[in-house]
Amino acid sequence: MDAGRSRGQGLAGVQSDPAERPPAALSRRRFIRLLLGFSASSTVVLVLAPVAGFLMPGKSPSNQAGRVLAGTIQSIVPGTGKVVTLGPRPVIVCNGPTGIKAFSAVCTHLGCIVAYDAAQSPDIVSPCHGGHFSVVNGSVLAGPPPTPLKEFQVSIEKDDVYVQDA
Ligand code: FES
Repeated sequence: MDAGRSRGQGLAGVQSDPAERPPAALSRRRFIRLLLGFSASSTVVLVLAPVAGFLMPGKSPSNQAGRVLAGTIQSIVPGTGKVVTLGPRPVIVCNGPTGIKAFSAVCTHLGCIVAYDAAQSPDIVSPCHGGHFSVVNGSVLAGPPPTPLKEFQVSIEKDDVYVQDA
């Protein structure tokens, strides 16, 4: 055997010295490093993004001056209602017998979100324990709710219906 032969040469005489090998396009080690780096950075972003969102809340239309666009007049059809959010508060906007009105959508009994029920008088109904409120003024008509729903001010500008804190 030739003593001058390098240790890296194989039996077939192929050069196996790492420095002389052609670089692989993406070695397994490099691929795993990239994968771990991507995984670690994704984890950091996924953890920090909600924290940053909590500490620096963005401005939404709901947060501007206690007023929210509930929709167009055409979208709030007579005999229907919809729940929108005014800041953190759900508000039900109804187009009942006396026109478009807005009330707190949180039932005064135990806090369930109320809904407009055209089939029942019409009323605003709490689905949890059968509380009924008037769609005219938010007063309690039936059931366990102890107090009326708070009314919010509605203003109509051109075709847009806005709800704001009174
Ligand atoms: S939560 Fe509405 S009736 Fe009980």
